[in-house]
Amino acid sequence: MVSLAENPLRVGLQQDRVPDPQILIIFGASGDLTQRKLVPAIYQMHLERRLPPEITIVGVARREWSHDFFREHMREGVEEFGGGLQSEEVWNSFAKGLFYCPGNIDNPESYQELEAFLAELDKQRGTRGNRVFYLSVAPRFFAEATQQLGKAGMLDDPNKQRLAIEKPFGRDLATAQELNRVVQNVCDERQIYRIDHYLGKETVQNLLVFRFANAIFEPLWNRQYVDHVQITVAEKVGLEGRAGYYETAGALRDMVQNHLMQLFCLTAMEPPNSLDADSIRGEKVKVLQATSLADADNIDRSAVRGQYTSGWMGGKTVPGYRDEEGASPGTTTPTYAAIKLHIDNWRWKGVPFYLRTGKRMPKKVSEIAIQFKDVPFLMFPSAAKQANPNVLAMRIQPNEGIGMRFEVKTPGSSLRTRSVEMDFRYDAAFGKANTDAYSRLLIDCMLGDQTLFTRGDEAESSWRILTPLLQVWDAPAPPESIPLYEAGTWEPVEAELLMNRDGRRWRRL
Ligand code: BG6
Repeated sequence: MVSLAENPLRVGLQQDRVPDPQILIIFGASGDLTQRKLVPAIYQMHLERRLPPEITIVGVARREWSHDFFREHMREGVEEFGGGLQSEEVWNSFAKGLFYCPGNIDNPESYQELEAFLAELDKQRGTRGNRVFYLSVAPRFFAEATQQLGKAGMLDDPNKQRLAIEKPFGRDLATAQELNRVVQNVCDERQIYRIDHYLGKETVQNLLVFRFANAIFEPLWNRQYVDHVQITVAEKVGLEGRAGYYETAGALRDMVQNHLMQLFCLTAMEPPNSLDADSIRGEKVKVLQATSLADADNIDRSAVRGQYTSGWMGGKTVPGYRDEEGASPGTTTPTYAAIKLHIDNWRWKGVPFYLRTGKRMPKKVSEIAIQFKDVPFLMFPSAAKQANPNVLAMRIQPNEGIGMRFEVKTPGSSLRTRSVEMDFRYDAAFGKANTDAYSRLLIDCMLGDQTLFTRGDEAESSWRILTPLLQVWDAPAPPESIPLYEAGTWEPVEAELLMNRDGRRWRRL
């Protein structure tokens, strides 16, 4: 067993180690994330014996729930959203480590009560003062909760106490800087785990292996061979009852600043010196520092937003964004965003990176596609009447895998070419064993491995790139100013134009 004191940073991408006994304290425990993701993920790890038996969870929220009510609520979560209980006996032993402690984020007394309760649990459960405080509350409470924890002395021990913070970390550069000041005032950077659940996905981690464990791709990974890169995260879902949050966020804050920018960094960064958390995060920061919107003086040339209108999906009509419960009628919150980024460095100068994400798209699909340059001269007639550039597509989800498109000769007497796909699929190679992203992140946080968490300067660098865009998109605008797309279709026309202007097209996925 390893404690933070022994080796905080050199752990790299974890192997199968078991964390020390500890208490995970979840603030905002009555919310969806706890019931749907966090507790099912911890239970799954308990089933796989990846956690010590002393692991204890304390839910904190305003509601006056009892321990038993909390346990029952979590049990329903595991049954409905996790992999099921598997065994009543195992669940019962796990549930003995679940507790609930009502409290108010802004009330110092709540923290004193919580501290007394945790001290009691340390004795009862042998958790030795090791704690992860997980802030799964509305983002506006991140600073308050951290300050209160600080005042109560609950983050004083950098070797035993950690702070995990859900996304989004800030609303723009200034607020991210301010939040960093608050948390770094209370604890060391090595105690802070800024969550981005995309980093917990196997296929996202595989990007590092694919790039840096193979000799044949890296020589091509630059401006000499790559024409452009497309990163897509398309979702079928709409608001899912989260209007309260989403209206304050929109696609840029909800998805681009964090998930898409992480995919971008892992695709574009230089090889790190090692798998140390800080080697990898340092490389990500460097590439972010070299990155900017393609044309910050002309936002329309760098970005397009959109909002879905009602449409037809899965055999029924779905409401438009403005008619979703909780969305304001004339809202201009984008549910779609496409941006074009430039990187000013030796590897990527002149190679645009196009990032897009949207809700209510025809398919759930996330991928990174590297499109290579055309051959200098094509001497064969092509079935498509033009040269088809080679594409390397890394599929993040679903159908996790990697595809490579290249040209072959069509059978027959003439020398014509056609594109074919060479396909690697994770499930075919390894079966379906896909560790849930939250399991991975929770266990790494308990182990004290920060590799898959966003560092403070990384969050700020990503906000710096997007802030000029946010300033324009946040300004009050008439409802008709936002481009629309019908639910169940791909992007608005304006997003097509963003590509067409450059003589390119979005991939049809
Ligand atoms: C969350 C966003 O961070 O990621 C959601 O807040 C989004 O709006 C979700 O639906 C997508 O995650 P995944 O893992 O389903 O791609």
